[in-house]
Amino acid sequence: MVRNVAGLLPELETEDFYLLSGIEQGMRFSEWVQREKLPTFSGLTPEEVEYRLERCLKRGLIEKKTIQYEGYTLAFEGYDALALHTLVERDTISEFGSSLGVGKESDVYEVRSYKPLALKYHREGYTNFREVHKERDYTADRDHVSWMYTARKAAEREYETLETLYPDVSVPRPIDQNRHAIVMEKMDGVELSRATFEDDQVLGVLELLLRELARAHESRYVHADMSEYNVFVSEDGVTIFDWPQAVPTDHENAAEFLRRDVTNLIGYFRRKYPQVVPEIDTATVANAIEAGSFESLEADAI
Ligand SMILES: Nc1ncnc2c1ncn2[C@@H]1O[C@H](COP(=O)(O)OP(=O)(O)OP(=O)(O)O)[C@@H](O)[C@H]1O
Ligand SMILES: [Mg+2]
Repeated sequence: MVRNVAGLLPELETEDFYLLSGIEQGMRFSEWVQREKLPTFSGLTPEEVEYRLERCLKRGLIEKKTIQYEGYTLAFEGYDALALHTLVERDTISEFGSSLGVGKESDVYEVRSYKPLALKYHREGYTNFREVHKERDYTADRDHVSWMYTARKAAEREYETLETLYPDVSVPRPIDQNRHAIVMEKMDGVELSRATFEDDQVLGVLELLLRELARAHESRYVHADMSEYNVFVSEDGVTIFDWPQAVPTDHENAAEFLRRDVTNLIGYFRRKYPQVVPEIDTATVANAIEAGSFESLEADAI
């Protein structure tokens, strides 16, 4: 697990961030950045580099390895610190709070500006990276820094999708993005998987969710990872989140993903409320969403 670096931020100094971003720049060329190159990448004197390396190593923000040369690389914590620092500098974030969730591929924290927000650090590529690199020869610099690139790309994709969908689709409002981190509005409510509805509410909620999928489709996106774990429900309605894997509707597998999303949703409601949810032909629903005719289908099909 990646440690929460928010507590470290107050003790880090501007030059520490120069060093971290110097290593980040060097990592575009190789996974382990030569110590000799750090003054150039960071704009710090060799003495200053030495002092900053010590501070950052001690705090677990970077790692050191000596094979053919003395090299340094960012730990995920160092990358988190860079993103968080940038978001604070931009006044996107002013306070850091507790964990909101640890996903398979993310860490989500509550943060604040003038209102409660959620900060999601993407971790795509992290688990893989750790496993693959355990026994690896670090001088073989194939596919270096893939975790950093993969996580940043996932954050960029998720942010772009939220920007396109909000506010036509009920998704968390996107606020800002930097590196592998996105900031969005904090959702109220609970995960659908933990919510229980009265019998007479069940079909209404299912219908709301299918309508959001239809709206997303009109905005030319398919979620592609729809489940009861990626939906929040509250008094005000439903919110669909976790969009990094979403595909545009002209993607070759879009139709298949849409069918799967619809099947997952209806399947969940049918398993949980067999007495209320009738057998629904998922293909008909998916086809209607694709054809943009979901609204006219509703009355009799659901
Ligand atoms: N905007 C938000 N407001 C409040 N809580 C959030 C928000 N975004 C995410 N969370 C919480 O963090 C958890 C993980 O978020 P998300 O599903 O986006 O990450 P993930 O790692 O992709 O998840 P998965 O395990 O589905 O791959 C969610 O289940 C939710 O509880
Ligand atoms: Mg999720």
